[in-house]
Amino acid sequence: MSAAPTRTDSTPPAALPARTGEPVLTLTDVTKRYGGRTVVDVPRLELGRHGIEGLIGPNGAGKTTLMKLVTQAVAPTTGTVVHHAADGGERRLSGMSADAVARMGVVKSNQVIQDFDSLTIRESMLLALAASRRERFFSLFGERAFRRESEATIDTYLERFGFADPDGHAGSAGEKKLLDIVRCLLLRPSFLLLDEPTAGLPQAETDKVMELVRERTAAGEMSVLIIEHDLDLIWDTCAHVHFMAEGQVVLQGTPAEVRADATLAEKYLGTSHV
Ligand SMILES: Nc1ncnc2c1ncn2[C@@H]1O[C@H](COP(=O)(O)OP(=O)(O)OP(=O)(O)O)[C@@H](O)[C@H]1O
Ligand SMILES: [Mg+2]
Repeated sequence: MSAAPTRTDSTPPAALPARTGEPVLTLTDVTKRYGGRTVVDVPRLELGRHGIEGLIGPNGAGKTTLMKLVTQAVAPTTGTVVHHAADGGERRLSGMSADAVARMGVVKSNQVIQDFDSLTIRESMLLALAASRRERFFSLFGERAFRRESEATIDTYLERFGFADPDGHAGSAGEKKLLDIVRCLLLRPSFLLLDEPTAGLPQAETDKVMELVRERTAAGEMSVLIIEHDLDLIWDTCAHVHFMAEGQVVLQGTPAEVRADATLAEKYLGTSHV
């Protein structure tokens, strides 16, 4: 059996998640308008109370945009996002750079994979580790101790996840997707946002990703929000589900509660899928 990064990876989480049962993030009056059209309209939303949470809804509902509003990849038209730390401290993410948000431990995977062609898989992973310590980046990057520690950490991930050639470039769409998620996990986020993690990923790799996500969450190291159209994964994995339609969170609750609600069938599924 391959090594488990949770046990052998000495890199600490960027910040501990909030105490169990407390929200990690609170959104207040968050809206996003594009050309006069409102694509997100969320008066109040708490995320991170329940370990692994799901965000579902039809195409174009505003799910990805909502995640980008949290990570500040997209600036809101109105509203604020507040991060609650384990020590009781509160920081307003609104107005921060996306890099600063990531350094606070709030990290998002990409639904659409960007170009990885200039770096090998191993280099991409090393860069993720170095970037997570940006403030000490230049002094650390050359340091032998940092390199040794990073290489050991990267090896545990490479043992666990199936890359064809770690010293080559990510080849297939599936490898790029996996590398994107692994880079997020390497950052040891306290709040991880996964945007359609299974799309394009072979089932075996999806299972390994979800296993590590469950381990980290169960250990209290992070909270997770997952966007997925594979609803079986949502029902099986999430303790709480937010359902979005037309920019609004119209329903939330346990998987059983959300599955049983007529709104879901009407706006998204067709009753045969529920
Ligand atoms: N940069 C943009 N400019 C204009 N409109 C945008 C932009 N980004 C998103 N939109 C629109 O906002 C709406 C919500 O898009 P978003 O990508 O958040 O949906 P989604 O729920 O993630 O959908 P999917 O399940 O298909 O990924 C869509 O109508 C989309 O066309
Ligand atoms: Mg999307």
